[in-house]
Amino acid sequence: MNIIQVKNYDEMSSKAADILIKKVHEKKNVKLGLATGGTPTGLYKTLIEDYKKNGTSYKDVTSFNLDEYIGLEKEDPNSYYYYMVDSLFKHIDIEHTYLPNGLAPNIERECKRYDQLIAEHGGIDLQILGIGENGHIGFNEPGTSFNAPTHVVTLEESTRQANARYFNSIDDVPTHAITMGIETIMKSKEILLLVSGEKKAEAMNKLLQEDITEDFPASILKKHNCVTIIADQQALSGV
Ligand code: GLP
Repeated sequence: MNIIQVKNYDEMSSKAADILIKKVHEKKNVKLGLATGGTPTGLYKTLIEDYKKNGTSYKDVTSFNLDEYIGLEKEDPNSYYYYMVDSLFKHIDIEHTYLPNGLAPNIERECKRYDQLIAEHGGIDLQILGIGENGHIGFNEPGTSFNAPTHVVTLEESTRQANARYFNSIDDVPTHAITMGIETIMKSKEILLLVSGEKKAEAMNKLLQEDITEDFPASILKKHNCVTIIADQQALSGV
């Protein structure tokens, strides 16, 4: 794993944007894997600024998001669909965007469909990832099989608590989500993991020091041959 150490969140976001924009320029019909949460919002803001200033076009880009809550309408400000439209898609010229459908009548079929869709597009070229405090990637909670394809997860209480800041109350945080599986994530040709802030210091420490185990999902990234981590000083403060 290649580690880029940066000062702070802003520098992390701008370095990540540089890498992503370079990819978009290099490969016209690049397939991007996108993430939600607090971590990539700075990256998306930087992409929008670049789009306005330099006109980088996303017309031929296809994006696949990592995960989606089960049971939230697209119009719900807490759905990841809404997050992506609001934080990025409506500001740039991207036309081909996919997220798992958390309202699909047959969720199992939806999971299969999503993996098939990614495969039909030739897989993901560059996957953006954040990390949960418990080491989750996407919504793959500790204990998830490394061989899991896209699947339904029951969210850990700690994950619901961590994400409750966006909802009116913890009771409104969904209990289930669809997530790209670890197998799906690991098939990406290149992975960019963004880590910022003291809250992530313990997870970062574990990732760098400890063995590969399903109890710490992000640890599987050590087996991937093209992973870059951009981490800020606070995230690296425990290492
Ligand atoms: C969330 C998302 C993940 C994200 C992680 C960290 O639950 N499902 O995709 O990477 O947890 O979130 P944040 O960036 O807000 O710390």
